Amino acid sequence: MHAGQVPDPSTGAVITPIYQTSTYVQDALGEHKGFEYARTQNPTRSALEGNLAAIEGGKAAFAFASGMAAEGAVMTLLQAGDHVVVTDNTYGGTYRLFERVLRKYQFDFTYVDTSDLEATRAAFRPTTKMLFVETPTNPVLRLTDLAAVCEIAHSKGAFVVVDNTFASPYVQRPIEFGADIVVHSTTKFLNGHSDSVGGAAIAVREDHIEWLKFVQNAEGAILGPMDAWLVLRGTKTLPLRMERHNANAQILAEYLERHPKVTRVYYPGLPSHPQHELARRQMRGFGGIISFELGSFENARRFLNGVELMALAESLGGVETLISHPASMTHASVPPERRAQIGITEDMVRVSVGIEDADDLLADLSQALDRI
Ligand SMILES: Cc1ncc(COP(=O)(O)O)c(C=O)c1O
Repeated sequence: MHAGQVPDPSTGAVITPIYQTSTYVQDALGEHKGFEYARTQNPTRSALEGNLAAIEGGKAAFAFASGMAAEGAVMTLLQAGDHVVVTDNTYGGTYRLFERVLRKYQFDFTYVDTSDLEATRAAFRPTTKMLFVETPTNPVLRLTDLAAVCEIAHSKGAFVVVDNTFASPYVQRPIEFGADIVVHSTTKFLNGHSDSVGGAAIAVREDHIEWLKFVQNAEGAILGPMDAWLVLRGTKTLPLRMERHNANAQILAEYLERHPKVTRVYYPGLPSHPQHELARRQMRGFGGIISFELGSFENARRFLNGVELMALAESLGGVETLISHPASMTHASVPPERRAQIGITEDMVRVSVGIEDADDLLADLSQALDRI
C-alpha cells in the first residue's frame, strides 16, 4: 500500500498526484530538483516503480508503455548471436516478438517445456545467455519449478527472466526463487480494473538495473503518468483482489470439473492438476485463470456466445470476469501446428475469473453450458 509513495511534498496530498507534465522548470543553469524532462523522470512513474520493486522483492523497477514494451527493453540486454531458452507455451505476443522481430537481429531461440527439467537443461548451448520462463503458462496453466530452473540457468552462466503476469506478485514472487528479472503486463492483475495498458521490468542485478534505466530513456517506451497512477491505485488492493480471484476460481474450477459437458479442466488448485504439489510450494493460492475443454469447437462457440454476465473479451486480471477462445483470440498469431503442439485445442475456453459474487458466476456458467 505504501511502498514508493510519500505524501506530496508541495501540498501534503496523501495520494501521489498525476504529474501530467513534459518538463520541469530549472532554478538556474545547471540547477534543478532532479527532474529535467519527463521521458527520463516523472514523479508518478517513480512512485509506481518504487512500489513494484518492493512488492516483487527486487531492487529497482522500470515502467513501460505495455507488457510487450517491457519485454522488448529486457531483450536489449542481449546482442546478436545470443541464444535464449524459452518456455514453449509462452504468451503469443512474446513468441511473435521473439520470432518475427528479434530473429531479424540474429537472436536465437529454443522453445522447450520448462516443466521438464532434463529437457530444459539439454536446451542450453554455450551461447545461451537467458532463460525466459512463464509460469503458470497461458492458457494451459502448466507450471515451471522456478527454484530448479534458476539453478540450472545460473550453473550454465545464463540469467533468468520470469513473466509473472498470470500469477501477480501476491501469488508468486520469482525473485525469491532465484530469478534475476521479473516482467509484467501491468495491464492485468497489477492494474486490475481493465482501464490501463502498461508493463514493468523488476531487476536485482546492478548491471541489469543500470542498462534498463538507460534503455528506458534511450528507447523511450515509458508508461505515462495517468497510467502509472492507475496501476499504483491498483496495487493498493492487490492482496484483497487476489484472495477473491483465488477463491472464486477454485469454486468455479471444482464446479466445471464435476460438470458432465466439460471434458477437461486446467487449474493448478485442483488435485487433478499434474503439478498441484508444485503449485502449493511455489504459489500462494492458485490464481484467477481457468481453462477448460468442451469437446468440440461448436460446443465452445455456443457456450461463449451464451454467457451473459461474463464478458467475451481478450485480456485478463480485471475485477470483472472475462472469457475467451485462445485459439482464435489471444493465440491467433501462433501457427496452428504450434498451437496443437502446446495443447491449445479448438474446444478450449479460458476464463479470467473476476471478483463478482461466486453464485452469480456459477449461475452464468450453468445457463451457458445448458446451451450446448
Ligand atoms: C503473460 C503475458 N505477458 C505479456 C503480455 C503482454 O502485455 P501487454 O498486452 O500489456 O503488452 C500479456 C498480454 O496479454 C500476457 O498475458
